[in-house]
Amino acid sequence: MDKFMIKPTTLLYQTCKEFAADMNLCENDLIITNEYIYDPNFKNLNLKCATMFQEKYGAGEPSDEMVEHMYRDMPKNVKRIIAIGGGTVLDISKLFALKKPSPVLELFDGKLPYEKDKELILVPTTCGTGSEVTNVSVLALISRNTKKGLAVDELYGDTAILIPELLKSLPFKVFATSSIDALTHAVESCLSPKANEATRMFSYRAIEKILKGYLIIRDKGPEARAGLMEDFLLASNYAGIAFGNAGCAAVHALSYPLGAKYHVPHGESNYAMFTGVMNCYMTIKSDGEIATMNTFIAGLLDCKVKDVYVELEKLLNIVLPKKALHEYGVNQEDLREFTSSVMVNQGRLMANNFVVLDADAVYGIYQTLF
Ligand SMILES: [Fe+2]
Repeated sequence: MDKFMIKPTTLLYQTCKEFAADMNLCENDLIITNEYIYDPNFKNLNLKCATMFQEKYGAGEPSDEMVEHMYRDMPKNVKRIIAIGGGTVLDISKLFALKKPSPVLELFDGKLPYEKDKELILVPTTCGTGSEVTNVSVLALISRNTKKGLAVDELYGDTAILIPELLKSLPFKVFATSSIDALTHAVESCLSPKANEATRMFSYRAIEKILKGYLIIRDKGPEARAGLMEDFLLASNYAGIAFGNAGCAAVHALSYPLGAKYHVPHGESNYAMFTGVMNCYMTIKSDGEIATMNTFIAGLLDCKVKDVYVELEKLLNIVLPKKALHEYGVNQEDLREFTSSVMVNQGRLMANNFVVLDADAVYGIYQTLF
């Protein structure tokens, strides 16, 4: 039987003021966000709720250490958690809606009960993770030198809030890495063996919105993105719904060791793997959904199907130039280490590959991208 679920209620507000009034934010609410988001958008609303700024607990992508530090400082008697931010803030906040999120390593190893005891409201401020509609929280596990995702239904938000106003000041690099992440979610979920007609509807709509947006940026320049934020926010949301049901796969799995060891932003490390994985799939199986998807993308790019990855990479390179793995500092020894890390730690994602990829195939992909 096909499985398809959209868990959180999704609401769209044009302004933060409308959102704050409608949600009736009060003393028992905790806003987890960043100061650079809170100050320009919420400070003048004089809200009564408690706030925590994630960046005070460490820079960069979310980690187990960051979660432990924040959990120690979390105010008591919180009834609702309102997470306003990128993937880092949203993924961390999902864990805090649980009754017992710490020790977080034990939680990720399945040794703690998953019991939710707070209402969770998720407000994305980037257009990539789709975290507002998924049951996944991804952390860098510092002591293990990789990233790992925890996917359990207790991590779903109760409400997802989309506010295009919050994305207006998104720097171009963050826009680029987050939207390429969303594109990867859409593509990987589309090719997943767990996909079905409903999930693919969301995957294809997300691919279309993102690539059409990139074409406008290619033709009119980076500033043209300002008028496209609602489209990109929706695309990210749709891609989130698709991968929340059908899963992500090898692109994400292979990108995690690179992101963890060389601190490459999530969307950028995905892009580093993207066409390498697609080309590998094509050598093993070039018919079925991958053929349908390639034809769909070629139609959007107005190119021949056989050239689709080359033309796609040309377009993506305008948004985010692709780098070879050695340009991030990766060495040949890392490729063996990355491969074994993928095979040991990323079974959850590797189960969703379009075709089975063994250790030799994974190592081969890393070699071609080196
Ligand atoms: Fe992702």
